[in-house]
Amino acid sequence: MPFLSATLDRVKPSPTIAVTTRAQELKAMGRDVIGLGAGEPDFDTPENIREAGIRAIREGKTRYTAVDGIPELKRAICQKFDRENGLVYQPAQVTVGTGGKQVLYNALMATLNLGDEVIIPAPYWVSYPDMVLLAGGVPVFVAAGPEAGFKITPEQLEAAITPRTKWLIFNSPSNPTGAGYTAAEIKGLTDVLLRHPQVWVMADDMYEHLVFDDFRFATPAQVEPALYERTLTVNGVSKAYAMTGWRIGYAAGPVPLIRAMGKIQSQSTSNPCSISQWAAVEALTGPQDFLGPNRALFQGRRDLVVGMLNEAAGVRCPKPEGAFYVYPDISGCIGKVSRGGTAIETDEDFATALLDETGVAVVFGAAFGLSPAFRVSYATSDAQLREACARIQDFCAGLG
Ligand SMILES: Cc1ncc(COP(=O)(O)O)c(C=O)c1O
Repeated sequence: MPFLSATLDRVKPSPTIAVTTRAQELKAMGRDVIGLGAGEPDFDTPENIREAGIRAIREGKTRYTAVDGIPELKRAICQKFDRENGLVYQPAQVTVGTGGKQVLYNALMATLNLGDEVIIPAPYWVSYPDMVLLAGGVPVFVAAGPEAGFKITPEQLEAAITPRTKWLIFNSPSNPTGAGYTAAEIKGLTDVLLRHPQVWVMADDMYEHLVFDDFRFATPAQVEPALYERTLTVNGVSKAYAMTGWRIGYAAGPVPLIRAMGKIQSQSTSNPCSISQWAAVEALTGPQDFLGPNRALFQGRRDLVVGMLNEAAGVRCPKPEGAFYVYPDISGCIGKVSRGGTAIETDEDFATALLDETGVAVVFGAAFGLSPAFRVSYATSDAQLREACARIQDFCAGLG
């Protein structure tokens, strides 16, 4: 009898780890490596939020809390949904977990039976398919390439739904493409879902505050109130408030689902860190004035990166609506050979050769389910971005 669980055979190790490990090895060897792989803001948590965490420690708010969040945070989350999304939730409809990641995982564990299908638009955030598989479900991918603005159409959604479909995982703005769906585009999808009462929506709004130009963020439960009873709206403080290490995410939805998610959490991690919960109360209820300049900063970086990557031979980089990622298409680079002699047959070859020959670390598209492409996280300084993009241009110019 094998000691390790058969469940492990269903999931693959994170495909991004190979690139990260290689980048670390090169750094340790003294090479000048620029990492464009990390999915987190490159600055510290705002001062008022850090102070709230310190205050919580001083005041002895260091014990177990209610499993799925302190009442003060649940109230702050309800106010946030009302204020920013026009969604009315009661605290009993809210759950708080150790990052949005745990919240998504709880929801899938609490709802999926063996063979239940979950629709995942591709390219996707790397964790969705494997979380579905861990929970015994079947990921059903719907391809949304650059020609479609990385967005699925109502027709594609309709075609992917079967009697076994339980969820649509909907992520806008998206990791890895930055694509954001307008309210009208969301309505097209929710109209389809109205015809299929067995399908619920898991809306991952993690990048809500990182939207550019005149793009207006919208979320399914707000666009289609008739879906309120079968929508789980997931969000968190990681990206908007530069709080990735604090590990606080949350969701709101129907009470029976929220209770079921709490049950999973009660027998796994219990409450998220008490100190982080108090810091999150401050994040959601304190001054929000840094969000605007933050958006402007990321918009400037997006424009810089899109501009420079589009000047690289064989690269086509769409301009996304939000998040801090771009997802350039590299069809024009496939089939060529790098100066260092690597044959570029796949986007993984491209990313590996780029790292080895120029020291720029990006994540290859196959990791996110759509090739040939790579993901750039532009959550780093303008100077680093300029240098990295110049190296990518030079690398591409050398492909022959
Ligand atoms: C699309 C998306 N959802 C959820 C998460 C989870 O974030 P956290 O667990 O830090 O709240 C991430 C983080 O990278 C993400 O990109």
